[in-house]
Amino acid sequence: MAKKDSDIVIRHLMEEDVPKVRDLCQRVQHESARNEFFVHLRRYLSSRYVITTPAFLFCLFHFFLQMGALQSLKSSIQSAIICEAVRFFFFWQKIKGVFGEGEDLKDPFLYYHKPARFFLVAVVDGEIAGTVAVRETEEPNVAKLLRMFVHPSFRRRGIALRLIDASHDECRKLKYQSVSLRTHTTNEKALSCYEKAGYAIVGKRNFASVYPHSFDTIHFVKDLHGDKTTNG
Ligand SMILES: CC(C)(COP(=O)(O)OP(=O)(O)OC[C@H]1O[C@@H](n2cnc3c(N)ncnc32)[C@H](O)[C@@H]1OP(=O)(O)O)[C@@H](O)C(=O)NCCC(=O)NCCS
Repeated sequence: MAKKDSDIVIRHLMEEDVPKVRDLCQRVQHESARNEFFVHLRRYLSSRYVITTPAFLFCLFHFFLQMGALQSLKSSIQSAIICEAVRFFFFWQKIKGVFGEGEDLKDPFLYYHKPARFFLVAVVDGEIAGTVAVRETEEPNVAKLLRMFVHPSFRRRGIALRLIDASHDECRKLKYQSVSLRTHTTNEKALSCYEKAGYAIVGKRNFASVYPHSFDTIHFVKDLHGDKTTNG
C-alpha cells in the first residue's frame, strides 16, 4: 500500500525506517512534554497559590515565629518555591508516562507487524515527515489510533489529515467499525485536527490532578460506516 498525493507518500512502516521513526517520535514527545510543562507553569502563575502560599508562610514566620520582616519574606518565598516544586514533582510523576516512549515504539516494526495492527508513515522528499499507528482494543471491531506525530518542519501541509484518511482506509480493510483515540485538553492543534477528521467527542477523563495542575484527556470516536471522506 502506498498512497501518493502531491509530494506526500503514505505507506506502511518498513524495518529500515525504525531508527528515523523513533527519532521523530521522541522529538515530538519531548516537544509535547515541554509544551505541557509551560502550560502548567502559566496555570500556576495565574493561580491564587502564587500569592496565598508565600503570604501564609510570611505570616507564619513573622508573627508566629517572630522572625524579622526581611528574613520572613526571604524564607517565605524560598519555602513556597520548594513547596510548589514538590507538588509539581508529584503531579509530573503521575503524567510523565504519557510523554514517555512507550513499549510499542521500542520496536514499532515488530509491535505493529500483527494482523489487527499497522503503522503508517508519511514520506516527503525521502524524509519521514509523520506517523500514525492503529491497534486493536478490548472492544470488538473498535480500533485505537495513536502515535499521530508530524515533524515540526512539515506541519500545516495536510499530512496529519492524509495519515488519518489512509489509516481509516486500512481500518475498513481490517473490518473495523470505528476508531477511538484520546488527546489532552491542552492540545488544541490535535483537538482541531481530529474534529476536522470527523471525530466526535465521547467523553472526558481527569487523568491527574494536583491543584492548580490538572491533566484531562478527551476521548474521540469516528464511525467508519458509510464514510469514505476525512473532511466530510
Ligand atoms: C497535531 C498534528 C499531528 C497536526 O499535524 P499537521 O500535519 O500539521 O496537521 P494538518 O496540516 O493535517 O492540519 C489538519 C488540521 O489540524 C488543525 N491544526 C493543525 N495545526 C494547527 C495549529 N498550529 N493550530 C490550530 N489548528 C491546527 C487544523 O484544524 C488543521 O486543518 P486546517 O489546516 O484546514 O486548518 C501536529 O501538530 C503534531 O504532530 N503535533 C504534536 C504531536 C501531537 O500533539 N499529536 C497528537 C497526539 S494525540
